[in-house]
Formats: sequence, structure tokens, C-alpha cells
Amino acid sequence: MCRFLSNPAGGSGSVPPNSATSETHFGFRNVPETDKERLVAQVFSSVATNYDVMNDAMSGGIHRLWKDQFIRRLAPPPGTVLLDVAGGTGDIAQRFLNYCDSVHGDQTARVHLIDINPDMVEVGRQRFKNSAYDLRSQVTLEVGNAEDLSTVPSESVDAYTIAFGIRNCTHVDQVVREAYRVLKPGGRFMCLEFSHVDNPVVGQIYDLYSFQVIPALGQLIAADRDSYQYLVESIRKFPRQDKFAQIIRDAGFYTVGSGYENLTFGVAAIHSGFKL
Ligand SMILES: C[S@@+](CC[C@H](N)C(=O)[O-])C[C@H]1O[C@@H](n2cnc3c(N)ncnc32)[C@H](O)[C@@H]1O
Repeated sequence: MCRFLSNPAGGSGSVPPNSATSETHFGFRNVPETDKERLVAQVFSSVATNYDVMNDAMSGGIHRLWKDQFIRRLAPPPGTVLLDVAGGTGDIAQRFLNYCDSVHGDQTARVHLIDINPDMVEVGRQRFKNSAYDLRSQVTLEVGNAEDLSTVPSESVDAYTIAFGIRNCTHVDQVVREAYRVLKPGGRFMCLEFSHVDNPVVGQIYDLYSFQVIPALGQLIAADRDSYQYLVESIRKFPRQDKFAQIIRDAGFYTVGSGYENLTFGVAAIHSGFKL
């Protein structure tokens, strides 16, 4: 059996897990809280240019279906102002604008993408460069930290999205509090994140795939095993669905029902909350 399968799966929900000694997790390693941002930055600088290709390779394209579902659930009305945090190479931002255009014929919706990693943002900038969205000034990109959105005024956005980003942040609860601050009353927080599989058989197959195949694919396609090893470990350390839903409620959001929807047996989940 792969050594990682017996490693303590996270999902404890304690964020950070060891605040008394100011440590947090980076994958399965405990590191000083002050180091995590730098280590995460190294991962995403390393994967930036292969990021979109690797997403397709690792998920067999399923991440596209999850992201489409995420935007359908958001169902942004015309004129929505979206803040997409940890927006990386702009996949969610583009889907959002495509949805507004194709469903409503709306060319007034706007998205502001913030990501801590300049290399990821640069790939995103290239994606939109000279596109119709760019020419209509519907998309802006900025380097910034989800835990401190100092350039975003309070109560200034209609919707806030964070996709596959929050588990990389040091203080998950602080990220959610910042989301609450910047949303207008009536605004919606939506998070798409890898989560915890709810079926034991699927769980075993998923663990095998995660720990045996994904790092090997990272090595093969991107010559970078370590970053993809971090990816699968970081997923196991992220709080379980119900714990994360509670973090969202604790920040002040109202959640409908459980507050989350599992995708593909819980491999990923959409969490959502309203600022009333
Ligand atoms: C897996 S990528 C997701 C990118 C994009 N949202 C998507 O779904 O394709 C995670 C992103 O989170 C960003 N990130 C990590 N920590 C962050 C932080 N504290 N603040 C903002 N972005 C952060 C990384 O730089 C990276 O671009």
C-alpha cells in the first residue's frame, strides 16, 4: 500500500491545525505559518504554464463540468460584479463572462480576478488579452492575497467566487471573513473545492488514483512530481464538507440546507452562503 494512504487524512476542520505553536499544514507536513505562503507560491509558480493542460490530464476534463455547474449554480443576473479570488489563470472568470453573454446577452457584467501568484495572473492576462471581454473592460486582474483584500472596498461586489484556491490559504476562516466584508448585502459567496469522498469504495479508488497516478502525471507532463504530490496531500488536509459549511456560517453567511453540494461523490464540493 502506498505510504500516503495510511497518513492521517485531514478534514479535521481546525484551521489552522496547530495555532498554539503557529504551525499549519503544507500538504502532510507541518510548517511554520509564516512559511506556507512562500511554499504555496513556489508550487503555483512552478505549475503556472502547464496548469490548464494538467487540469485536463488529471481530471479527464471533469474539472470543466464542475466549473460549468459552479457557474450555473451562481446563475449571475445581468450586470453582476464578480470578485474571483485565487482566480489563477482565469478559468472561472471566463466561464462567468461566457455565461452572462450566452444566457442573457449581457455585456455589462464585470469580473475582477485576484490571485497571490504573479505567474498565474500573467497566464490569465494572456488568456484575455485582446479578447472582446478585455476590449469592453469586463475583466481586470490583480495580484493580491485572499486573506487581505485591501484594494477591494467593503460591500462592493455582488458575488464572490473562489475555486480550488481556499485550501492553499493559511487562514481559511480569515478568507471567508474577507469575502463577507467585500460582498454587498444580498451578495453570494461561492466556493468550489476538492473535498472528501462519501463512498468507501469510490474513496479507495480515488486514493489510489490520487497518490499513485497524479504525482506521476505531474512528473510526465510538467516534470514536477512534488507540486502534484502537494496537491493531493493538501486536498486531504482541507476540512470536511460540514466543517467548512460551519466556517462559512461562523463568518456570518446564511446557508441554505447543508450549505454544500457534492460533485462526483464528494471529490469536489460547491459551498455557498448569502450575506443577508
Ligand atoms: C488550483 S489554483 C486555482 C485557479 C483557478 N481558480 C481555477 O479554478 O482554475 C489555486 C490558486 O490559488 C492561488 N492562491 C493560493 N493562495 C492564495 C492566497 N492566499 N490568496 C490568493 N490566491 C491564492 C494560487 O496562486 C493559485 O493560482
